[in-house]
Amino acid sequence: MIQMLQKFKTALLAAGLSSVLALGFAALPGVGQSPEPKPATMHASSASLENWWKNAVYYEIYPRSFQDSNGDGIGDLNGITQRLDYLQKLGVEAIWLSPIYPSPQVDFGYDISDYENIDPQYGTLADFDKLVAEAKKHNIRIIMDMVMNHSSDKHKWFEESRSSRNNPYRNWYVWKDGKGETATDKGQPPNNWQSDFGHSAWEWDEKTRQWYYHKFYKEQPDFNWNNPEVKKAFDDILKFWMNKGVAGFRFDAITTLFEDPNWIDDKEILDKNGKTFLNAYGDVTLDDARTNNLPEVHDVIRHIREVMDSVPPTKFPGRRIMIGETYVPTIKDLLNMYGTKAKPEFELPMDTQLGFINKMDVATFRSKINDAETGLEGNVPLFVFDNHDNPRIDARYGDGVHDDDITRVISTVLFASKDAALFYNGAEIGMKTTPPTRKEDVKDPVGITGWPKDKGRDGERTPMQWDDSEYAGFSTVKPWLPVPPNKSTINVKSEQADPNSLLHWYERLIELKKTNPVFDHGQNIMLNTDNTKVLSWVRKGPGKQAIVVATNFTAEPQTIDLSAKSAGVSGTKLKTVLKSPIASEPASIDKVELPAFGVYIGEVQ
Ligand code: NOJ
Repeated sequence: MIQMLQKFKTALLAAGLSSVLALGFAALPGVGQSPEPKPATMHASSASLENWWKNAVYYEIYPRSFQDSNGDGIGDLNGITQRLDYLQKLGVEAIWLSPIYPSPQVDFGYDISDYENIDPQYGTLADFDKLVAEAKKHNIRIIMDMVMNHSSDKHKWFEESRSSRNNPYRNWYVWKDGKGETATDKGQPPNNWQSDFGHSAWEWDEKTRQWYYHKFYKEQPDFNWNNPEVKKAFDDILKFWMNKGVAGFRFDAITTLFEDPNWIDDKEILDKNGKTFLNAYGDVTLDDARTNNLPEVHDVIRHIREVMDSVPPTKFPGRRIMIGETYVPTIKDLLNMYGTKAKPEFELPMDTQLGFINKMDVATFRSKINDAETGLEGNVPLFVFDNHDNPRIDARYGDGVHDDDITRVISTVLFASKDAALFYNGAEIGMKTTPPTRKEDVKDPVGITGWPKDKGRDGERTPMQWDDSEYAGFSTVKPWLPVPPNKSTINVKSEQADPNSLLHWYERLIELKKTNPVFDHGQNIMLNTDNTKVLSWVRKGPGKQAIVVATNFTAEPQTIDLSAKSAGVSGTKLKTVLKSPIASEPASIDKVELPAFGVYIGEVQ
């Protein structure tokens, strides 16, 4: 299960280490109301254009599963364009599109065979231009996924590279001799390095009698980032998409661009009894420190930042941003991903330390949020709890009984903390992880290699549930992955009609994040720091009423004192802003009652 997460856990090891809701806030839309989409801010100030991304709401779309517009069972760009009103009403400000480039789809787009085009399954470059232009009318920016660690083995560069040892592209990828008697003997792979997707990271090429390195599938050969031509090729690719009006990139697998030049074996990780242990693929678990997070990665990130800043954002004014796929084990490692003032790197390296705790554990949540508030030297954390690589929130935090309420708790942490907030399509309606039940139905190859221990990532990639029709409004034909039967109750249409739905909860939280200034730049100070059942905090900023937030992490009712004197907030009365499930108004600030997995947000007066 969960490759990226396994990797993250390994890194940690290596580092030693239905409810109902009430609304009481006049500025927010009334329960069940559908306000008109907000007009685009075309006349924003230069400060807001420079800073738009800091308190912004980002939405990951897995295009293959979002909306099919041409009846082939696969989502596409025009489908996304059709859903922009929905996204704007939800409060989305930027969409991260998982890869839509031409690809053999071995890794569903993360194996790119042409970096400057659109896969015909998803549309055309003209459809892309239309999406960018229409999204702009909705004040939504488009962020592309950029895969620079590897290409598809069907990319013309790799086809050239493997055609002969003397080909000019040979050195664009990582080729090594095997451990054999002579240089051209197959022998054994150059070392014991493993692919994140199981088994050896080396693939033998019979024609040129060498091994090539692949951190992921064998159909995803790694680029040789020591070759300046690779760097130059990516400069041009980035400029191509920037000139098309994209607002930034999410850099895939960015920590694995380089390999240790000594090519020596990775160390085995030992369990608490001092023994090696096997991962889901049946391989001995290794510490991949020789192929992950090497210092040279930072030179590339800094260089990309310069390239990004060299192209003026004319089509969609405002800073272009770099999001990093940064599964790193400590806050210090995360801090390094921002670079320095003089040598900046990512604006938003993902903070996966909070989002993938995978346990309703108040103390750990508190310490991770504190880390982000105090350990990032004022840089903005990008919190994220879900994506297309990991089981959805229900499978990692749910208890099978209170899943929607637990999602309300998690989404409150996401939107009421001081952060940029990223979430994955379908989270807002409480879509559930639905893995395949038979090996023969698995589409994600890691599920085939890992079956039954790791069923792959199909479970979190099922089609978006728009309504309760046969194919959930996603398509008119059988989709590429099955629609979960729970589409009859979990779908956008029914949740739009239900004032107490999770969808409306997301809308209100996002509205709050965007309209109340303390949620924009106010401090985030933890309250009741010894409490192991309720996570509570205050957001405060000069000249504005402080807001207190309390989230019950247990299935039992809890009472909590939300007076925030310890954080320098003197008020003694509460005005309810948002709460879930319905409970009586708090008797007083020091006795706020929270039902099972309840949330309370109130203004201190
Ligand atoms: C991370 C992506 O999110 C995942 O889906 C992909 O398989 C790997 N990188 C390899 O590109």
